[in-house]
Amino acid sequence: MRRFEQKVVLVTGAASGIGRATVERLAEEGATLACLDVQADAVEEVAAAARQAGVEARAWVCDVADQSDVARVVGEVVEAFGRFDVLCNIAGIMRTSHSHEVPREQWDLVIGVNLTGTFLVTEACLPHLLESRGNIVMAASTSSLSGHPYMLAYAASKGGILSMTYTLAVEYAKRGLRVNAVAPGGIETPLSAATGAMLPPDSDWSLFGRISPVDQNRGPDTVASTIAFLASDDAAHVNGEYVRVDGATLA
Ligand SMILES: NC(=O)c1ccc[n+]([C@@H]2O[C@H](COP(=O)([O-])OP(=O)(O)OC[C@H]3O[C@@H](n4cnc5c(N)ncnc54)[C@H](O)[C@@H]3O)[C@@H](O)[C@H]2O)c1
Repeated sequence: MRRFEQKVVLVTGAASGIGRATVERLAEEGATLACLDVQADAVEEVAAAARQAGVEARAWVCDVADQSDVARVVGEVVEAFGRFDVLCNIAGIMRTSHSHEVPREQWDLVIGVNLTGTFLVTEACLPHLLESRGNIVMAASTSSLSGHPYMLAYAASKGGILSMTYTLAVEYAKRGLRVNAVAPGGIETPLSAATGAMLPPDSDWSLFGRISPVDQNRGPDTVASTIAFLASDDAAHVNGEYVRVDGATLA
């Protein structure tokens, strides 16, 4: 499938995990790619691999939580490629704590990157996406939909991302913009690999069965293929929707 020929796609969090797999998948499908991340070397490698795969791709170092950084980079992307059609808001971080002990800095950091960062990138991209009648895919989570112990700020940020998805979809549907989300769970990435070690030492492990896939964890390509569907014209009538990619966790 080459559903993204002539399409310019901006991916945040492109250096690792689901963002990286999204760049790889969209490169296979012919997209021109703007790859954004805070990890300079890794994001450059991802863009270089996409070019190797035969598409136009460039890397930008960009902190999604920094409004001026975001405005500058989005301006540079439009200047470089002349337009853009799809925004994949994938950048995110995880921190954990007992919910009665969340340090204020942890709350501000997680909300700042995951929720405010998603808002800032979306805000900067909206005029261009309205012009191209494009679409946005958000990285929500099963924690947008169900209780995730010890992840209070993270879950709140992901719930907010889903609320943003619905509001944007309704507000701009008549102008031809679509906004959807993936809600992954149990995806093997550096973020999920680090989560176990981050949990409070006295965590109640019996609580994790209810937020784990029924069969097995899977790799980020399973989320990337869902993102590619939502971002493509195959999903032309899918708007304001989320798709769980969680191996039946919440079924
Ligand atoms: N892995 C899972 O099981 C899972 C489940 C649900 C949702 N998600 C969500 O999917 C998204 C990707 O997660 P992942 O598992 O691939 O994690 P990951 O850590 O592999 O990738 C996240 C990427 O975001 C980048 N990033 C972090 N802060 C940034 C910032 N301020 N500005 C720009 N880039 C920044 C990181 O450098 C990294 O490259 C996240 O939003 C995460 O919350 C993941």
